[in-house]
Amino acid sequence: MDKLLVRGGKPLAGTVRISGSKNAALPVMAATLLTPGVHRLRNVPRLRDTQTFARVLELLGAKVAFDGNLLTIDTQDANSVEAPYELVKTMRASIYVLGPLLARFGRAKVSLPGGCAWGPRPVNLHLTGLQAMGAQLEIDHGYIVGRNAKLKGATIGFDVVSVGATAQLMMAAVLAQGTTVLENAALEPDVTVLGEVLVGCGARIEGLGSRRLTIHGVPSLQPIDTTIIPDRIEAATFAAVAAMTGGTIRLENVIPDQFEAALRKLEESGCTLQRSADAVTVSGAARPRPVSVVTQPFPGFPTDMQAQMIAVCTIADGTSVVEDTIYTDRFTHVPELARMGARIELKGNVAVVKGVDRLAGAQVMATDLRASACLVIAALAAQGETLVDRIYHLDRGYESLEQKLVALGADIRRIH
Ligand code: UD1
Repeated sequence: MDKLLVRGGKPLAGTVRISGSKNAALPVMAATLLTPGVHRLRNVPRLRDTQTFARVLELLGAKVAFDGNLLTIDTQDANSVEAPYELVKTMRASIYVLGPLLARFGRAKVSLPGGCAWGPRPVNLHLTGLQAMGAQLEIDHGYIVGRNAKLKGATIGFDVVSVGATAQLMMAAVLAQGTTVLENAALEPDVTVLGEVLVGCGARIEGLGSRRLTIHGVPSLQPIDTTIIPDRIEAATFAAVAAMTGGTIRLENVIPDQFEAALRKLEESGCTLQRSADAVTVSGAARPRPVSVVTQPFPGFPTDMQAQMIAVCTIADGTSVVEDTIYTDRFTHVPELARMGARIELKGNVAVVKGVDRLAGAQVMATDLRASACLVIAALAAQGETLVDRIYHLDRGYESLEQKLVALGADIRRIH
């Protein structure tokens, strides 16, 4: 298993070009199943997760080809409706094929994703929403099986804001008979952009970017031709690197509004920011100031930046409080940071972080994508060597992470 060896302790500086967004790319890849034809997606990050999703599409009968960051998906002959456990268990987002399969073929057999490193992560909202639209779903030997579905419009109110359920039901509704209303919809850019892509293909969606989406079903759509938006979490992660190491990093190819909450929190922690339309320069302070962070659905502070922000807080000049309201047990990085000398007390979903002068390199182990990013950031500022184990999680979500960090002056090496 690959590991990363990091010699920390120097400020990182330079320019980094941010890749396409994983979480925006995955639902658009699923949406290619809605329409037979050749779809073109540019700026798709080359990651384990996009490759896994490509494999799911291939198993469903699509022809998939990567040429650099251009992904071409031919769904003309897609004819299978089964997404097997072996793939779905490795990537929860595979559940996104359920809605499009039901919409196009009227049937689907998709493995239930199961648990993950941070809690059970249910899919009940996906299932009850599709059922409200007339899908007959049952759970059979670990699979969600839908038969004879002729999807019809319905009014569906979510009791919690869910990115996945909003995207899923939007995809199901665009080809359904009649009008679907989604109340308390997610506002995350990944969802809004999916809607815009579908509208570009002939879908009729009103209210994009608001909590109430009205979707009038249409009989058919055109194939997708789009460019995936920049990855706001990758961008915010590199901003955290500047905060952590006290360096100056220019983030290029970004949409600053899409990670404004993270930028504002880093500013509060002492960073100086210079924003332009598609770039941000982040200069870290000599030592971060303590902050108080509560994760919220967009436009609030993202749960996908909670771990990286805790890393910054470990060396702040005082006590920070970080609460995750979205995923309440997403804290596997906390005991690992403690191995590096961090002082963190975890009370339920609240981490109280008492800043120390310096972290010390240690052997640590990552248990999920953002926890891994957090440990790498911590290692970059720590004194001495840190060996980060199980970095396959990083390969799921950060394109060319080591190369980008090396270009910023990091001493980081992958050990096979
Ligand atoms: C997506 C992101 C993930 C991010 C999360 C929250 C992708 C591939 N993943 O995950 O990186 O951390 O949004 O921003 O885009 N919930 C239910 N029932 C459901 C679905 C969700 O109760 O059927 C709850 C979850 O337990 C959680 C909250 O809703 O507490 C938000 O989850 P959701 O937005 O659905 O996350 P994902 O779409 O899985």
